[in-house]
Amino acid sequence: MKKILILNGSPRINGNTYSLIEKFTEGAESKGHKVIRFDLHFMNINGCKGCLGGGKDPESPCTQKDDMLKIYPHYKEADILVLASPMYYWAFSAQLKTAIDRIFAVTEIDPDYKTPYKECFMLMAAEGDDKDNFEPVIHYYKSLLNYLGWKDLGYLFAGGVMRVGDIKGKEVLSKAFDIGSSIL
Ligand SMILES: Cc1cc2nc3c(=O)[nH]c(=O)nc-3n(C[C@H](O)[C@H](O)[C@H](O)COP(=O)(O)O)c2cc1C
Repeated sequence: MKKILILNGSPRINGNTYSLIEKFTEGAESKGHKVIRFDLHFMNINGCKGCLGGGKDPESPCTQKDDMLKIYPHYKEADILVLASPMYYWAFSAQLKTAIDRIFAVTEIDPDYKTPYKECFMLMAAEGDDKDNFEPVIHYYKSLLNYLGWKDLGYLFAGGVMRVGDIKGKEVLSKAFDIGSSIL
């Protein structure tokens, strides 16, 4: 059984990213994995202040006391982190990027800035659907994981989806289920 933490960067609760998350979760839970999801848009999470003053209290590692405090305990114990987001201007949504910046406070707990080891997967919905459209995000995702030293479990893109519901009936949803259920 793996502990899976999903950070959902989409503000549309029944949107395309959410549909990917739903199917991925069904797949993962069907194999007994434990999944917890945070819908970041509906939480009070401030941008990193860059104070470099975090990590002093491992129970509450950031100097900012907001809803990241709800996420930190799950982040610390998660085996797998799923970064889920709509593509916004060839990047993660601000909601997801803001939360990613704030996990640096956990890294600060370690005197050598060692980030806790995770496996990582990316789910993303986007209007564009060609390879070039996803290139900047793949580059960022791979650079991030390379720096953090995390294992890359891969990514799944749902391209060609703009409005809520566009993803309904698409094959990518069964892929999301299959990926969730293939987690070892
Ligand atoms: C502010 C904004 C920026 C966007 N930027 C892009 C983009 O750069 N490339 C793209 O393919 N789609 C872009 N889109 C389209 C969304 O990625 C698409 O609507 C996606 O399905 C939204 O996912 P959601 O239903 O989970 O919110 C953008 C949408 C918004 C609102």
